[in-house]
Amino acid sequence: MPVFNAESTGQNVVNTFPEPVKDRTIVITGAIGSSIGSAAALALASASPRKIILDNRNATKSQELIDFIHTSYPSAPITHVVYDLSSLSSVETAASEISKEAPSLDILINNAATPPGPYSKTIDGIESQFAIDYVSHFLLINLLMPNIIAAGPGARVVNVSSSAARHRTHLDFEDYDFSNGAKYTAFDGYTQAKLAIIVFAIALAKRIEKFQMQSFSLHPASILSSMRSQVSSDDWKTAEKKREEAGTKTEGVKKNTVEQGCSTMLVAALDPELADHSGSYLSDGVISTKTIHALDSGVDEAAEKLWKITEKLVGKEFTWS
Ligand SMILES: NC(=O)c1ccc[n+]([C@@H]2O[C@H](COP(=O)([O-])OP(=O)(O)OC[C@H]3O[C@@H](n4cnc5c(N)ncnc54)[C@H](OP(=O)(O)O)[C@@H]3O)[C@@H](O)[C@H]2O)c1
Repeated sequence: MPVFNAESTGQNVVNTFPEPVKDRTIVITGAIGSSIGSAAALALASASPRKIILDNRNATKSQELIDFIHTSYPSAPITHVVYDLSSLSSVETAASEISKEAPSLDILINNAATPPGPYSKTIDGIESQFAIDYVSHFLLINLLMPNIIAAGPGARVVNVSSSAARHRTHLDFEDYDFSNGAKYTAFDGYTQAKLAIIVFAIALAKRIEKFQMQSFSLHPASILSSMRSQVSSDDWKTAEKKREEAGTKTEGVKKNTVEQGCSTMLVAALDPELADHSGSYLSDGVISTKTIHALDSGVDEAAEKLWKITEKLVGKEFTWS
């Protein structure tokens, strides 16, 4: 039984599990520049996938990544779809494009997120961090579910969260908009969105169990990507203070490379032994044993509530057979 840890790279994981990549179709959101999504795409390209589809909002940057991957794997079948997660209609357009490109979709990796920042709302009137990191991915996943079901048993939905979720004890269903921004901090916006992703992965796992498909969430590690450099020093200070108040401050967290940072999402996507652990939250390449208080009790009820609220936000209800 292979055991991965914080030092493992995405390439280590793909080398260990080449079969679940070979001839499979894989979609990754937020794979641009020096991000962990890009490192995941490069590692996956090494194992003869049928197709990799990158979902990004910048076509030029997507093409740059494709060109870069082709320097190592010239015949890797990689395409891209342009969309903006801050617009639900853009997500719908992208989903219909992906549907055509990938009638059968084996692995969907929901990795994109916006850096924690000032309060804002998307064009659809949803708090931006919640909308971009979670709500839009909820819509994308649900719109692509017929294609994922078409891939058959073993298809997976991988949801990139963050250990930041452990700083929050629950999802506030009455006020997920932070009183129209009055109670908002960048830290609270981020922890809410990332906890929602973990709780959503549990709700999805239940719904897709009958198709023998799996859903996971994960913390990728503390990574020296561009996201960290986009967070203002004031927002870092507020986050530090809130973590101290919550008693969840961690000292001296080691920073990983993006190559290491993509390993846990690839374990979630590829490790066959995880098939019986759908809904799990992973960290450092294994199912996490670290406490997330929000998952301690009542998480099933919270997961159902979150699903219904999100359906309302996207204006659609989803059932599949
Ligand atoms: N870095 C860390 O230490 C860390 C720790 C815990 C969790 N994570 C999580 O890991 C994931 C990857 O993060 P990363 O560190 O690789 O960050 P990153 O380099 O900033 O990558 C994030 C990606 O999301 C995309 N994105 C942002 N807003 C978007 C929008 N409105 N529409 C479409 N795409 C959008 C970005 O595209 P643009 O380039 O166009 O903005 C970028 O490709 C995120 O979910 C993050 O929350 C990271």
